[in-house]
Parts: sequence; C-alpha cells; structure tokens
Amino acid sequence: MERPDNLILVIFGASGDLTSRKLIPALCSLRRQNLLPEKFVVLGIGRTKLSSEDFRKKMSDAVRSYSEDIVPWDEQIESFTENVYYYQMDTYSITEDPWLFVSYLNELGDKYAVGGNYIFYMATPPSLYEPISVSLARSGLMNQEKGFRRIIIEKPFGYDLESGRNLNSILHGIMREDQIFRIDHYLGKETVQNLLVTRFANGIFEPLWNRNYIDRVEITSAESIGVEDRGGYYDSSGALRDMVQNHLLQMVGLTAMEPPSSLGPDAIRNEVLKVFQSLQPIKEEDVAANVIRGQYTSSLVRGECLSGYRSEKGVERNSRTETFVAIKFYINNWRWGGVPFYIRTGKRLPTRVTEIVIHFKTTPHHLFQREHGKLSANQLIIRIQPDEGILFKFDMKEPGAGFNVKNVNMDFHYSDLANIRVPSAYERLLYDVMMNDSTLFSRDDEVETAWKFLEPIQKAWENNKSIKIFGYPAGTWGPEHASDLIEGEDLDWRYPCKNLTDDGLYCEL
Ligand code: BG6
Repeated sequence: MERPDNLILVIFGASGDLTSRKLIPALCSLRRQNLLPEKFVVLGIGRTKLSSEDFRKKMSDAVRSYSEDIVPWDEQIESFTENVYYYQMDTYSITEDPWLFVSYLNELGDKYAVGGNYIFYMATPPSLYEPISVSLARSGLMNQEKGFRRIIIEKPFGYDLESGRNLNSILHGIMREDQIFRIDHYLGKETVQNLLVTRFANGIFEPLWNRNYIDRVEITSAESIGVEDRGGYYDSSGALRDMVQNHLLQMVGLTAMEPPSSLGPDAIRNEVLKVFQSLQPIKEEDVAANVIRGQYTSSLVRGECLSGYRSEKGVERNSRTETFVAIKFYINNWRWGGVPFYIRTGKRLPTRVTEIVIHFKTTPHHLFQREHGKLSANQLIIRIQPDEGILFKFDMKEPGAGFNVKNVNMDFHYSDLANIRVPSAYERLLYDVMMNDSTLFSRDDEVETAWKFLEPIQKAWENNKSIKIFGYPAGTWGPEHASDLIEGEDLDWRYPCKNLTDDGLYCEL
C-alpha cells in the first residue's frame, strides 16, 4: 500500500480520551505497517498544562494500554513518539490571538519539511468545531496554496436538521467540502465495508436482494454498557442522535443501495444518498405507532445491581432521554417498495452485538412438516461485531423416516482466517484522510438528508408529551412494545448472542 505525503496532524483536544484511546494507538499501528508518511509529525493541542515531553510519555502509555496490536514493540513506540509535540492553548487563545500558534506550527512544518501539508483533527466537544475552524480559516491555515489543508470532525454533526445545515454552511463558508472529513467510525469497521463485498462480489445475492424475495430487513446495534461517564453528553443527545442518525442509517444505506458504478468516493456516497432520499417520511402523527423509545431502569444482573439511567452521573433525575429506540420504516423505490425495515439500538441490553438480518420470504407452498409446527424462512445474518462473520440459516431434512424439516446454520467467522489482523476503524479512517480518500466519510448532503428523515420523530417527541417513553430493566432487550412493531403473526426480532450461531431470548445472562 502507498504511503501518504509528508504532513503534520494537529489534534485539538489532545489531552482527551479519544486521542489516547483511539487516535494515537491507531497512528502507532499505521507506523508499524509503514503506512505513515516518511515525514510525519503529531502536534497535540490542549488546555491541560503539559510539556511535549510529558505528552510523549502520556501517549506512549496510552499505546501500551489501548493498542489492539499484540506484539511487543517498545522501540517502535519510542521512535513514533519522537515526532509528537504538544502545544498548550485554550479555545480563547485560538479565536482571539492565533498568531503565536500559527508561527509555531509553521516553524514545525519547516523543520520537518512537510511541504505545508496540515490536517486538523477536532477531538473536541462539537461546540468548538465552529470557533476553531473559523479561526483556522481566518489565520490563513485552510488556504491550500502552500500544501493541502483538511479538517476531520467527529459526530454529532448538529443536533437536528437546522443545526446540521447550519454547521455545514459555516464550514462551507471557509473551506471546500472536499477538505472536510466527517468521521462515522462504523464506516471504518472492516465488517461494514465487507457488506459491499458480500453484496457486489458475489453473483448469487444480487438477484435475490429485493422486494420479490426479501420479507423484511432487521438491523440491531446493541450495547451492554450504560452511559458510563458520558451522562452529561448523552442526556442531551439520546440514542436517536447518538446512534441512529449516523451509524444505523449508514448501515441501512449500504444494505439497501444500488450497485455503485465504481469505488470512487462519490459513486458510493451518491448511492447511499439516494437510499436516504427514498426513506418514506414518518409523519409526526404516526411516530407513536412506528417508533418505540425506552429508558433503562435499575435491575439485578448476575447478582450485580445496575443503576437506572436517571441515577447515572450527569443525567437529569427526571430525564426523558431515550437509551433505546426501535423504528419501523419503508424505502420508497423499486427495489424495496413494501419491504419493512426495522432498526433498533440501545444501551444496557443483554449483550454487545451489531448485525444485519436479511429475512427471506417463505416458500409459496409448504410441503413439509416444520420443527415445532412453525414456518421458518431463510435468514442471512451479517455480523458486524463481535464474532464477526456471516451466518446463513436454512432448512434441512432431519435424518429418519418422513420429511421432518430442521432449521440449520451455515457460518463463516472472520476468526477462521488465520493470521489476519482486523485493523481498527480509526486506523483505516486516519489513513484514508491522509490519502485524501473520502469514500468512508459522511458527506454534507447525506448528513442533512438523514436529519430530515429524523426530524418528524424529534418534533413528535418534543411536541407530543403523550408519546410514551417505556422503562426497561437494564440487561433486557428493551421495551416489550418494540416487538409490536414487527408485522406478521408470530414474528419477532432476532435475539442474538455474543456468538454468531447462538440465538435465544436472554442467552447472554
Ligand atoms: C459512538 C456512540 O458513536 O458509538 C457511543 O457515541 C457508542 O454511545 C459507540 O457506545 C458504539 O461504538 P462501537 O464501535 O462500540 O459499536
């Protein structure tokens, strides 16, 4: 693989968790694979008073604690951190008087001869994206005459349609769309990218991938953890903004999109955008019937008492923020007309699992006797995490007299690929920004169209206080009402386990 051009990566918010847990370990891993530029400098910016020496030490410790690489590589860590610097500055200084910082950065750039190439990563609270970007632009740092200039921002990209549009228009006022890289870390996951390969490298799926053969599509992203120490952020966000607007809708997009004409950044994102544009809007008055929201309450799990959401640190005692959401919707186009899509996500569910389930239609005529008298249908399960892989469920004859039918599994696990290391999402995404490949980043129009779809849900929840928020005990699969969304007698969600091939109601507990 190619190495990117020389550059300085400036990280705002460098003393925070994202930098230590994800960014620096990912960069170090890229270094080990020789995928960083020949001349590469990290400049961390933060409010905390630290010297470059202290910061280097902190980052070396972070790599040792959080890196997913298993080989001992002390020497490489030391040689990587040699080119790591720290500059102490608060937002006030960058907005009021950026010049000291600008000259420090340019001096560093000259010293390492990086050709004026700078990437700015906003690992800060979203409220700082605007003041920092405006100051960068005002001080000439987004000007590409001397080298390339890019910024990376993390979600949330606004809180609703209006603020999402507003953020885009501020950014577009000072830089071009192709200088902006909006991270949705789900797109950096190998298994999410593998969705494209599963669908478009295998001839057998495409003819079946439509309303004629598919009964429904189900996407689950469950977490067993609660809000941990992010209560303050989460309480003003909720599951809809935190997970649905970005990660879940991107998975819907990749599952439902038409084959792109190429792997070019716009070819794929244009197709995802078309899916978003075809989402049938859920009218405000239909929200109660098609969207179920819930909030976890305290419960005893394996002898441990888990607190309810309202008792978490940073959360309002009478909060109505959802920690679970399930939505039923349709995609209005020729491929998917009439096929329900069900998506759900939640915190404090029985296990951590993300998967896409394609439920195929049953046979038109039922010849055989089924297990427990129930009709079963083929399912293709694309497991994003954990136990990454693919599972196909189909019917087989049970040995013996008669024609008794049993539903069996055919599975592939990524872990079967010996010696293959699955890179972390940040590793892939940071490398892509350096290579100027924006395929796996959310584009302005995708973000706005996703907000547009969610707007009536946000409005209904805001305006109609009679729409219930159901409590669910921590460690369960969310409110029982979520099952009422699924159309069809006897049909329910799949209740997955940590292991791809197991399923059952509460198998993780
Ligand atoms: C983040 C959300 O984007 O994704 C978190 O803000 C969530 O609330 C996380 O826990 C889940 O990511 P993953 O990769 O663990 O599924």
